[in-house]
Amino acid sequence: MAAERTLVLIKPDGIQRGILGEIIARFERKGLKIAAMKMLQMDGKFAKEHYAHLVGKPFYPDLEKFVTEHPIVALVVEGKEAVEVVRLIVGPTNATKAPAGTIRGDFSNSTSRNVIHASDSKETAEKEVKRFFSEKEIFKYSFRNEYYRYAADE
Ligand code: PPS
Repeated sequence: MAAERTLVLIKPDGIQRGILGEIIARFERKGLKIAAMKMLQMDGKFAKEHYAHLVGKPFYPDLEKFVTEHPIVALVVEGKEAVEVVRLIVGPTNATKAPAGTIRGDFSNSTSRNVIHASDSKETAEKEVKRFFSEKEIFKYSFRNEYYRYAADE
C-alpha cells in the first residue's frame, strides 16, 4: 500500500468542546495511521503563513484571532489516498452544508468555527506537513494487523 500523508489541525473549538478523542477516533477506525501528533499554539506570523491565501479576506482578522488565542492539536494522518479520505471524513468547509456523519456535519454549523482543518490536495499536504512537523517528529511504524486493513496489491 502506497501511503500518503496529510495534515489535520483540530482547531480551538474542537478542544474547547471536548471532542478531541471523538475526532481522532474517526481517523483510527477508518484504518488510517496517526504518524505524528502534538499540541501547539500558533502565533500571528505562523497563522499568516498557514492561511497566506486568506490574509486579504474580510474574515481574516477574526480567523487569526480565533486560531492563535488558544492551543490546537496537529496530526499527520497516513494511509491509502489519505488526503482525499480525510477530506471526506471531515466534510466541506461550510459545516452548515456538511452531511451528517462527517466531522463538520456532526459537530459544527459554522464556516469559521468548523472544528478541524485538513489539507486540500497532495501538494498542499506536503507543504503543510512540513510546516508543522520535522521529519524526526513523524513516526514510521507498521500496524501489526496491516493484513486486515489492506490487501497486498492495494
Ligand atoms: S476559500 O475561501 O475557498 O479560499 O477558503 P478555504 O481554503 O476553503 O478555507 C477557508 C478557511 O478560512 C476559514 N474561515 C472562513 N472561510 C470562509 N468564510 C468565513 N467567514 C471564514 N471564517 C473562517 C475556514 O474555516 C477555512 O479554514 P480551514 O482551517 O482551512 O478549514
